[in-house]
Amino acid sequence: MKVTVGVCGGIAAYKAAELVRTLQKQALDVHVVMTEAAQHFVQPLTFAALTGHKVITGLWDMPESADADAASSIEHMDAAQSTDALVVAPATANVLAKFAHGVADDFLSTLYLATTAPVIVAPAMNVNMWQHPATQANLEVLANRNVRVVAPESGYLACGMTGAGRLAETETILEAVLSVLHHRNDLAGETVLVTAGGTREALDPVRFLGNRSSGKMGYAMAEAAQRRGARVILVSAPTALRGPANCEMVPVVTTQDMRDAVLSRLDQATIIIKAAAVADYRARVPADQKLRRSGPLTLELEPTEDILAAVVERRRPGLLVVGFAAETEDVLAHGRDKLLRKGADAIVLNDVSREGVGFDSDRNAVTFLTRDRAIELPEMNKRELADHILDETLRLRRPLQVLAETDADLPVTSGD
Ligand SMILES: Cc1cc2nc3c(=O)[nH]c(=O)nc-3n(C[C@H](O)[C@H](O)[C@H](O)COP(=O)(O)O)c2cc1C
Repeated sequence: MKVTVGVCGGIAAYKAAELVRTLQKQALDVHVVMTEAAQHFVQPLTFAALTGHKVITGLWDMPESADADAASSIEHMDAAQSTDALVVAPATANVLAKFAHGVADDFLSTLYLATTAPVIVAPAMNVNMWQHPATQANLEVLANRNVRVVAPESGYLACGMTGAGRLAETETILEAVLSVLHHRNDLAGETVLVTAGGTREALDPVRFLGNRSSGKMGYAMAEAAQRRGARVILVSAPTALRGPANCEMVPVVTTQDMRDAVLSRLDQATIIIKAAAVADYRARVPADQKLRRSGPLTLELEPTEDILAAVVERRRPGLLVVGFAAETEDVLAHGRDKLLRKGADAIVLNDVSREGVGFDSDRNAVTFLTRDRAIELPEMNKRELADHILDETLRLRRPLQVLAETDADLPVTSGD
């Protein structure tokens, strides 16, 4: 597999040589792209000697081979299409800003826009540059676009200051590279049906019963599954989000719509991820005309259909069913009860009483609950979390070595 290492103009540029060697030890074919600033710190010759390939130093370089075909090719497009991962280490504040804003004025930034391969950035800079709101905002944009950020470490910095900004250890960057390479196409052949958003139940022609779900977690699940090679069907209640390109979008409004959409596509799915927050109740008889204010109002509600139960009832062998549960108290006990009662393979448990995570946030922390394990997935960006949830879901396919008693205390472990 081919990995492209982008080296930027920071003090830590010399550490990229060690990263290149470490990647090569994993039998990866490593190519290097250097920004102009990077060449003030390290000579391209260092990387050329290590990799055996010409180092790309500018948009206007001539391709490696002198033959007619190669000479007529567009090098950044070739590099973009042929690489299996792009890892930028060290990533400067400047390159993070360029990536976040789509500036393509040199080879590395153009390659970033042109590639569909996974991208990892390992920033390194002075602590004030790192903590600057502009840098943090750019990182947030990139993390939301599925760029894997390997956070810098804290310590004594080359500028003489102490704090966060030191390039992550080579081993940490290597782990991130191996993880994205491992994920590439590991869902090929799967059809993942994801439900997302919060369903709405009409009270009258202008009002509805709804909930605070933004749909971000479900959309992140759909994006991650698609990136990993799955065919994705996204059954979505109304959200303000744009679905991933190329997935089959099925817009729905009510719980009944969602149930119909899911059940009619059940035969196609190999994995169902039920991340939607469905209304549990609807008005028994929605008003025909807009309700007017005139003293106290009593609404008669009736329960909606239980989609998860209907899915489990109709499941065929081999279909994995993962539900979500948002809880505000006794989170583990309620989650466990839902798991056993509904017969899903796993429940992703959200403690929505926690501040800063969950509803409408870009971050979340969950417990992935199966019959024999409770895996804590600590607070992280929802896109990153989506990959962990898919990893755990795929693990359900592997035979369990130890089957714990269902009524024994669940071991709580850390996700690995
Ligand atoms: C001596 C020196 C050290 C620098 N170290 C860093 C650094 O560690 N991180 C960073 O983001 N920028 C650093 N800079 C600033 C970048 O080199 C500058 O923003 C440059 O435009 C980055 O270009 P590039 O992103 O295309 O590589 C440094 C500049 C100098 C002169």
